[in-house]
Amino acid sequence: MALSASLLIRQGLRNGWSGYIRTCASSFAMVAPSRSLHDHQGSLPRLPVPPLEDTLNKYLKTVKPLVTEEEFQLTEEIVKKFAAPGGIGQQLQEKLQQRAKKTDNWLSEWWINAAYLDYRWPVVVWSSPGLVFPLQEFKTLDDQLSYAAKVIVGALDYKKMLDDKTVPIDHMGKDLLDMSQYFKMLGTCRIPGVTRDSIVYHGQSDNPPKHIVVAHNNHYFKIDMYGKEGKPLTINQVLHQLRNVVERSTHPTNPVGILTTQNRNVWGKAYKKLRKDKLNKASIEDIQRSIFFVALDGPIVNPTGNEMTDAALLCVHGNGSQGYAGNRWYDKTIQFIIGKKGAVGLTYEHTPAEGPPIANLMDHIVNFINTGNFQKEDRTMKERKLPAVELDRPKRLMFNIGDDIKQEIEDAKCALDSLVEDLEMTCFLFTGFGTSFIKSQRLSPDSFLQMAIQLAFYRIHKEPGAHYESASTRKYLYGRTETIRSCSTESVEFAKTMLDENASIDEKVSSLRKAVEGHKNYAKDAVHGYGVDRHLLGLKLCAIEAGMDVPTLFMDVGYIRSSHMRLSTSQVPARCEAFMCFGPLVPDGYGCCYNPRPDSVVFGTSAFNSSPETDSATFRAALEESLMDMHDILLKSGLKAKL
Ligand code: COA
Repeated sequence: MALSASLLIRQGLRNGWSGYIRTCASSFAMVAPSRSLHDHQGSLPRLPVPPLEDTLNKYLKTVKPLVTEEEFQLTEEIVKKFAAPGGIGQQLQEKLQQRAKKTDNWLSEWWINAAYLDYRWPVVVWSSPGLVFPLQEFKTLDDQLSYAAKVIVGALDYKKMLDDKTVPIDHMGKDLLDMSQYFKMLGTCRIPGVTRDSIVYHGQSDNPPKHIVVAHNNHYFKIDMYGKEGKPLTINQVLHQLRNVVERSTHPTNPVGILTTQNRNVWGKAYKKLRKDKLNKASIEDIQRSIFFVALDGPIVNPTGNEMTDAALLCVHGNGSQGYAGNRWYDKTIQFIIGKKGAVGLTYEHTPAEGPPIANLMDHIVNFINTGNFQKEDRTMKERKLPAVELDRPKRLMFNIGDDIKQEIEDAKCALDSLVEDLEMTCFLFTGFGTSFIKSQRLSPDSFLQMAIQLAFYRIHKEPGAHYESASTRKYLYGRTETIRSCSTESVEFAKTMLDENASIDEKVSSLRKAVEGHKNYAKDAVHGYGVDRHLLGLKLCAIEAGMDVPTLFMDVGYIRSSHMRLSTSQVPARCEAFMCFGPLVPDGYGCCYNPRPDSVVFGTSAFNSSPETDSATFRAALEESLMDMHDILLKSGLKAKL
């Protein structure tokens, strides 16, 4: 998401298998079985190293709207010196090209470390997004547990597709995409370290896990998912196990999981202490090795009056120590969250994957539940008279918590609660129009929405905001993301024209089309690996690895201002009415994630209370006003043309 890359700013498929092709973005058309994934992965092109001059020219364009003329002149001089023949830029470019020749993807290892594992801030709010499923209504405990059971079985159904290697291959336009992230979602866990974290992919080991871990009232239970016969449990069997979990955890226990919300250095040190005890070590390993994690939560604490926002906050931070943050293990890649009254979703640790594969997993689960695919299987189980009681009962994972760990828990509670206090969100369904209308105007829906976000920011702050959008570079082997720098000279011109009472409709429409076009061009470059940010990062890391000084370019006001992403945004499409959400990237910024749909757009927006300048409700109002203004000028200009 916006997130991964932004974090930086703030500081095997071995066997051949049949794949299917499907589009990754707004639509998910299935196409006939295609070639094996092995062949597919092997045929993917390598991430290019863009020509230095192209990147620097593009970079200058993105800096221009964010600095004064004087500052821009200085940036130009620095860039010129950097790019001079035989200069530092060329030396670094050569090093990068050498690296690209020797690796499958010159960025991937650097990226995982720089964007995630070296990142020391808490994963909660700062890195791990929430994904809110369509809201449910649970009247009884059994409603909640039944839904949880369906989510679990739906996820295992998806796992089977991964294991059988029949998961559809994504494509964007005509490009087939890298699928490696899909195989890293399940069985994965981040491990805290004192200076750098690591990540373990148990799902890809020779002995992949067969259990999940379920948390209730901060108690953890290991549940075998394949029974004695080695067959996945049915919904009824899972439900039986969940009831057992709840019966055996009626009172909250020490919220040891809250330690995973800490600053990574702090958690890294506490982790070492915690693991010294044999019992703790075994329990931690069961959590880390699990296929995924499921949190059964109680009712929302401190409701905001907006159910979507409540569900988003529950997914992002669990409402802190007074809520359910201890009922988690935030290092685990996938944690499903099933609230008491119907808030359902997940939070995911971002290191192994971007939002779209996670959203596909969710879509599969929601579709699995809605189409009742499980009912047939459950009937068969009943016919086969396989009683749920034959299953081993869920194993309680025990922890010995001494005074030192108790103190760590208290510290973690304090740290998390101030973060929880600081984050505010406004999530909503915009129903004015959706992608159908935008397409009917011969405009790119994503670029249109990005320009609406630019306009909203300008409307509030009367100045442009550096703006991050993630673009997928999965058309390349092991590709992750590139930044689309959505703030441009055209976007600023557009915002000014839209807010100018004296500008005519034609002027407004023309500036809108230019801004959308400019964004679309940048987005195209970015998905092809020709953005600015990853290339510059590569050059910087080449310098660091070679023991050279970090070039002045990275200390310049142009670089700093254009990388202070006051808008951290991302499109994560889903087939159902779900949405992803995350915190802002910078203290005076906004987070904004959206799921564009044919007749609506679902938005998850965020800001920090500690910033007097930003407020997500104000941002929502400005965004909706901007969207409607853009809609209206297009309609008016269309009518005028007809007359
Ligand atoms: N007129 C009519 N239709 C148009 C159009 C135009 N001028 N321009 C685009 N469209 C259509 C497209 O053909 C596409 O059609 P489809 O619905 O049939 O597929 C649809 O509108 C959407 O296209 P658009 O909105 O332009 O872009 P996109 O959906 O391809 O998204 C990105 C652009 C950058 C978001 C996408 O390429 C991407 O990289 N997504 C991944 C982001 C990511 O990883 N996020 C998670 C980070 S954790």
